[in-house]
Amino acid sequence: MSSSDSAETTAAKSGGPTTETVLEVRHWTDRLFSFRITRPASFRFRSGEFVMIGLVIAGKPLLRAYSIASPAWDEALDFYSIKVEGGPLTSHLLKIEPGDTVLLGRKPTGTLVLDALTPGKRLYLFSTGTGIAPFASLIRDPDTYERYEEVILTHTCRQTAELAYGEHLVATTREDPLVGEMTAGKLRHYTSVTQEAGPRMGRITSLMESGQLFADLGVPPLDPASDRAMICGSMAMIADTKALLEKAGLKEGSNAQPAEFVIERAFVG
Ligand code: A2P
Repeated sequence: MSSSDSAETTAAKSGGPTTETVLEVRHWTDRLFSFRITRPASFRFRSGEFVMIGLVIAGKPLLRAYSIASPAWDEALDFYSIKVEGGPLTSHLLKIEPGDTVLLGRKPTGTLVLDALTPGKRLYLFSTGTGIAPFASLIRDPDTYERYEEVILTHTCRQTAELAYGEHLVATTREDPLVGEMTAGKLRHYTSVTQEAGPRMGRITSLMESGQLFADLGVPPLDPASDRAMICGSMAMIADTKALLEKAGLKEGSNAQPAEFVIERAFVG
């Protein structure tokens, strides 16, 4: 047995990452890209969870948390990433090409899961930037449509070009052979931009506070009796959105104690 064989065996025994192959890479803007990798047969997760993803850099594994952007039924795994200038991982990860390998952690986890919410009528998925990634998984999970009558995905970015991933995601979800029909009349996509002129402008928090979000969608204001929510974005976006949900009477839940909303920061590395 060679020394690399024994190192791999040790990593496997101790639950270290597996080595996966890159299948596809798509660059959406000069700051954003997505990639698809092989999924080990034993890899199980719940829609909305995250996992460690990484590369071997200068001989050492470097991993960061990434939300899984594909649904649990998919045969491969999708991820959506920002390119951080000088970022220890993303500055290398942005160069991956099909056929390259990446490291995949073995233990997906997270709070943005359907089981952390109590039953309700309407599910809001509030996202900014790459915070849309866990919702790319959830909006393609049949369970989401079995549990809610209406699923409202909001996505706010600085610029219109940064909305492209979400636009493509929603369009392909509506046409998906497995879940497309389930989304009909249920899945709604609400976008805005904050740093250039666009069809709709403003932070999601401003649109909520002014009531424009609810007026545009033709739905009543937030109500703990019917509305459930998940939030994913920067720390500041989460804090501000969470405060508005709490003001409306919604309480934060968890895997252990389901309630009306859950939060998770969009990871960057
Ligand atoms: P803004 O351009 O007004 O800061 P970022 O890339 O910085 O995470 O921002 C992504 C999007 O999230 C931007 O549209 C940004 O708006 C918005 N955003 C940033 N901070 C907040 C916040 N505290 N509440 C709501 N939206 C926010």
